[in-house]
Amino acid sequence: MKIATITVNPAIDQTVSVDNFQTGAVNRSRDMRFDAGGKGVNVASFLADYGLNVAVTGFLGEENADVFERHFARKKIEDRFVRVPGETRVNIKIMDEANQVTTDLNTPGQIPGEYAITRFYEQIEALAQTCECFVLSGNIQAGLPADFYAELIAFLKSKKRMTVLDTSGEALSAALKAGPNIIKPNIDELGAMLNQSLNSIEEAHAAAIALVNDDTKIVIISMGSDGALFIEKNAAFIVRPPSISIKSTVGAGDAMVAGLVAGLSKKLSLQECARLATAFSLSAVTRLGRDLPASDVINEFQKQVEIIPFVVTKS
Ligand SMILES: Nc1ncnc2c1ncn2[C@@H]1O[C@H](COP(=O)(O)OP(=O)(O)OP(=O)(O)O)[C@@H](O)[C@H]1O
Ligand SMILES: [Mg+2]
Repeated sequence: MKIATITVNPAIDQTVSVDNFQTGAVNRSRDMRFDAGGKGVNVASFLADYGLNVAVTGFLGEENADVFERHFARKKIEDRFVRVPGETRVNIKIMDEANQVTTDLNTPGQIPGEYAITRFYEQIEALAQTCECFVLSGNIQAGLPADFYAELIAFLKSKKRMTVLDTSGEALSAALKAGPNIIKPNIDELGAMLNQSLNSIEEAHAAAIALVNDDTKIVIISMGSDGALFIEKNAAFIVRPPSISIKSTVGAGDAMVAGLVAGLSKKLSLQECARLATAFSLSAVTRLGRDLPASDVINEFQKQVEIIPFVVTKS
């Protein structure tokens, strides 16, 4: 199964290591690096590391596309990104290891014009001929219509393609109307979208089950160190990671989505997909950077994952 991931607003992550970082002062950095980023790019990277055939699309600024091009070449990811004039945004992460704090400076990203959007749909149409599954990840930059994902999902559905959506806010609520096959908000994103605070797994389940229908067959609510709740029409279970010491939670959700899709591509049961998804996310949180470890590490993590049936308790 070939997979395509879509990132409409990618970013270059610039990580600057500064011990004892101080605002309003001259700081000296120890180390600095640029990485190709954006949630769909991360998902594609994990999938490629796992040995799957994956293509990426979305919009890339032509002036600094080289960071992405090198990354895609290294991972053997098929580059179907539409180039737009100007630069892709650069998000700065200031890592103060001495104090264990990270400061993020995110920029909005540019808005693709009509011409670029037409080129993008040409890529989607071409990819729909070879890719069975499409992963739509991340937020939509202000300036693109809120129903951008909804239209895309409707189009992909007309081509009988599977859609996995990982976004939040208005982009999520608008996209839900088009019936993505699988969604993976985290518990805070689900609560924010529904305008209610979800304080327990029971509350999360009650909120999420209402989103399951003939189109959206699987809802996954991730809950950080508490794991994730997988919900289908007639079944639900919790997938619980072991308690481990973590290095960085950056990309935990993206790894989870990648592991899920990897499991689906191997035609695993949903429980086994959940186990693999959690093993991927454990790989992400226990390491820095966004490369997947060797398969024996993933296998070991899979064994440590616990699956607990979720039974609705009537009150
Ligand atoms: N502290 C942790 N310890 C163990 N596992 C974790 C931890 N944080 C995240 N995970 C794993 O990663 C999965 C996804 O995490 P989370 O719910 O934080 O995703 P997210 O909020 O979507 O992340 P992202 O910021 O990447 O979008 C969890 O279900 C769990 O398996
Ligand atoms: Mg997330």
